[in-house]
Amino acid sequence: MRTSVYSCLRFIYRHTPLAQRCVHLGHDLFKSIKWHFKQSSFSKFLTRWVHPVQFSNLDSIRPISQLFGTDRGTGIQEYYIRKFLTQHQNSIQGRTLEVQENLYSKDFQKYGMTVDILHVEPSNPKATLIADLTQLNSLPENQFDCFICTNTLNFIFDLPSAIEGIYKLLKPGGVFLGTVAGVTQISRYDHERWGDYWRFTDKSLEKLFMPLFEKTCSITPYGNVVSAIALLQGLAVEDLEKTELLDKVDLDYQVTLGIFAQKPLPS
Ligand SMILES: C[S@@+](CC[C@H](N)C(=O)[O-])C[C@H]1O[C@@H](n2cnc3c(N)ncnc32)[C@H](O)[C@@H]1O
Repeated sequence: MRTSVYSCLRFIYRHTPLAQRCVHLGHDLFKSIKWHFKQSSFSKFLTRWVHPVQFSNLDSIRPISQLFGTDRGTGIQEYYIRKFLTQHQNSIQGRTLEVQENLYSKDFQKYGMTVDILHVEPSNPKATLIADLTQLNSLPENQFDCFICTNTLNFIFDLPSAIEGIYKLLKPGGVFLGTVAGVTQISRYDHERWGDYWRFTDKSLEKLFMPLFEKTCSITPYGNVVSAIALLQGLAVEDLEKTELLDKVDLDYQVTLGIFAQKPLPS
């Protein structure tokens, strides 16, 4: 009986385009509801409640989360990125560019500000500028007052060309607000797409940015041994009992680094 109902449904599905469309729509709807639920604070709270952190258990090779803690709450890198951008929020204005989506710029919207989205993949519907930072001829010149480029340079092999690209995109006086990872695990998602190549320190960033941006460039490291372990284990900010520890900086454990670089005005 069960088999015949199943065969009957399969026959209808195979021979009725409307049934196929309904099944696909239902599938897409289910995927979208699941995705939105996973992004919700409630789902993150549930994950932390069901899988609480055992701080004494450091002899497992499985991290607590393999998603940088973003399935449990606010990721450690996101915490530092927001801190860096907040410190430079006055520079987020005018014609602003962000990579992939308006994840951070939307929190700093102000009067007269417009946001463009740069992406390497033409399939991204949010992208208004399809370009590769290392391919100078794919980039417009002197266009942006601000370029928010979070956690992207780790995934670009040819860094000197990418920094030339950044310089080309900015208007004279325009500001680059970038963040990169120092101590961190591989980002599997990015590694399988464009490649995860580099880990940075304040010194490597100075050497990379100084030649073009000279005195207008400053590097701000964030992190310490607590935030480094939290990030490697995939803990969220909400998992930590003493979140104020995240703000202590130990230069030997540079977890996230902020780059402020301003394209000089013509003299
Ligand atoms: C981890 S995502 C960062 C984006 C996001 N705004 C964030 O912080 O969550 C890494 C980004 O690097 C971008 N990327 C990789 N290679 C690139 C290249 N050669 N030029 C421009 N973008 C590149 C990818 O498109 C991807 O959006």
